Amino acid sequence: MEVFIMTRLRVKIAFLTGFLSMLVATVHSQEIIKLPAPKTEGGMPLMQALKERKSGREFSSRKLSRETLSSLLWAAWGINRPDGHRTAPSARNLQDIDVYVAMNDGLYLYEAKNHQLQKILSEDICGATGNQDYVKDAALNLIFVSDLAKLNVPDPMAVEFFTGTHTAFLSQNVYLFCASEGLSTVVRGNVDRAALAKIMKLRADQKITLAQSVGYPPKR
Ligand SMILES: Cc1cc2nc3c(=O)[nH]c(=O)nc-3n(C[C@H](O)[C@H](O)[C@H](O)COP(=O)(O)O)c2cc1C
Repeated sequence: MEVFIMTRLRVKIAFLTGFLSMLVATVHSQEIIKLPAPKTEGGMPLMQALKERKSGREFSSRKLSRETLSSLLWAAWGINRPDGHRTAPSARNLQDIDVYVAMNDGLYLYEAKNHQLQKILSEDICGATGNQDYVKDAALNLIFVSDLAKLNVPDPMAVEFFTGTHTAFLSQNVYLFCASEGLSTVVRGNVDRAALAKIMKLRADQKITLAQSVGYPPKR
């Protein structure tokens, strides 16, 4: 009798464990968007992209395809060498900048290592990424966040210098990609950083540097 009860208990536990791990896997897979491989060839010739680079503040309602989003994020801050170095430089290769992507269906963190997006929030926080009306119209808003724990620089002036310069390289990558793809973009310092950090549930040692709106321009 005792053996029978123990066996049934074991079966029940095994079933529950299997069910739980399935549940965890499902929840996990819902929170990760695997991006398609970025298109790392072609595009506009560099000199032409530099000629076309400009800020644009008008956006149509057209969304970016997964493929374009993938290439945009890779251009911004993807890994472009087998040793893990990136498309933008950083002092001592500290790689302190994280790119968050606010879209209509939520807020995501770009994970360059696996070239994927991790869902952080399910709300549309586009409007909170800036103090100007047009930000809510853009297909997406990038938020550049320096992870000060990775930077580990005690001098506040050096923190300002490194976080600012590191972000600027990513932003220019985005500008050039957008010029090449016919996308409209504008980098923005006019951000309520304290309010946005709270909405994004950032740690105290994560610092929002700039935001950048991206989308298709309206048809003329
Ligand atoms: C650090 C920085 C902060 C900026 N902040 C804003 C901003 O908050 N809102 C905005 O509409 N444009 C912003 N801009 C965009 C500038 O206004 C724009 O780059 C400038 O007018 C020159 O235009 P161009 O980029 O088309 O050459 C910012 C640019 C930089 C470099």
